[in-house]
Amino acid sequence: MPPAAPPSSGSRDNGLRQWQGHALVVGCGGIGQALLADLAWRAPGLTLWATSHSGWRPEPGGHLPAERLLPLDLTDDGSLARFSLALQTLAPSLRLVFNTAGLLHGDTLQPEKRLQQVNRQALERLFAVNAFGPLLLARAVEPLLDRTEPVLFASLSARVGSIADNQLGGWYGYRGAKAAQNQLLRCLALEWRRRRPLACVTLLHPGTTATPLSAPFQASVAPERLFSPDRSARQLLDVLERQGPEQSGSFLAWDGSMIPW
Ligand SMILES: NC(=O)c1ccc[n+]([C@@H]2O[C@H](COP(=O)([O-])OP(=O)(O)OC[C@H]3O[C@@H](n4cnc5c(N)ncnc54)[C@H](OP(=O)(O)O)[C@@H]3O)[C@@H](O)[C@H]2O)c1
Repeated sequence: MPPAAPPSSGSRDNGLRQWQGHALVVGCGGIGQALLADLAWRAPGLTLWATSHSGWRPEPGGHLPAERLLPLDLTDDGSLARFSLALQTLAPSLRLVFNTAGLLHGDTLQPEKRLQQVNRQALERLFAVNAFGPLLLARAVEPLLDRTEPVLFASLSARVGSIADNQLGGWYGYRGAKAAQNQLLRCLALEWRRRRPLACVTLLHPGTTATPLSAPFQASVAPERLFSPDRSARQLLDVLERQGPEQSGSFLAWDGSMIPW
């Protein structure tokens, strides 16, 4: 049985409900899976596609048929090229692309607390996924974006990527890579304003959300400030539904407030 529909949050003004065509969620981690579930209910006219990096598979009978899951490693040019080619046949008219892929820690990767913990290999991995990944994804899907109807291209950033808001320091690689993503996608928004005037590029901060990415750091977060993935997805889509080409290039938090660059 598919999971129950998420409760209504009351803001449906842009009407993803009315949208027709294809939608793509990149990355099926905690927030990505919750977005797929919310979109299946909120935007019934959109055919959902998703990508998997290291092996997630959808549940049989769930929101995503197995054939709509494509392999994609954002750090691998060959993988990006194969993905783009496959989508050209399968989903030639994309209305919504939501990038949720991101990297903060891993087996040999920990956020740096001080300068002496910084190393080149970790910086390169963090920038490859968090900064170059979203831009190269945009390049891969650009030929598939609908030209006659509004298009949303959203990517998850993080408040810690804000330079103006940085009062604590630390987390050099992740902060730097998210700040770089913000600048790269701001450039993209300005380019598409001229070349694809129906497109809207949005950078979103989900708030601290209970997923594998935040797991090692959740102990220091007050329970009321730690969102479930379902809540996070609902809040992010509520914000995104209010975006259009005139707002393109914004960096917004889960509650719709603007975050300083
Ligand atoms: N959770 C939070 O509190 C929080 C707060 C602020 C911002 N964010 C941002 O929100 C986004 C989603 O995070 P999440 O909380 O859902 O984390 P998550 O559960 O760890 O999901 C991250 C996803 O990124 C994918 N990914 C990693 N490397 C990739 C690559 N090279 N190519 C393609 N996909 C790749 C992962 O796939 P595999 O697992 O298959 O490698 C996974 O599906 C991230 O950008 C994160 O920085 C999260």
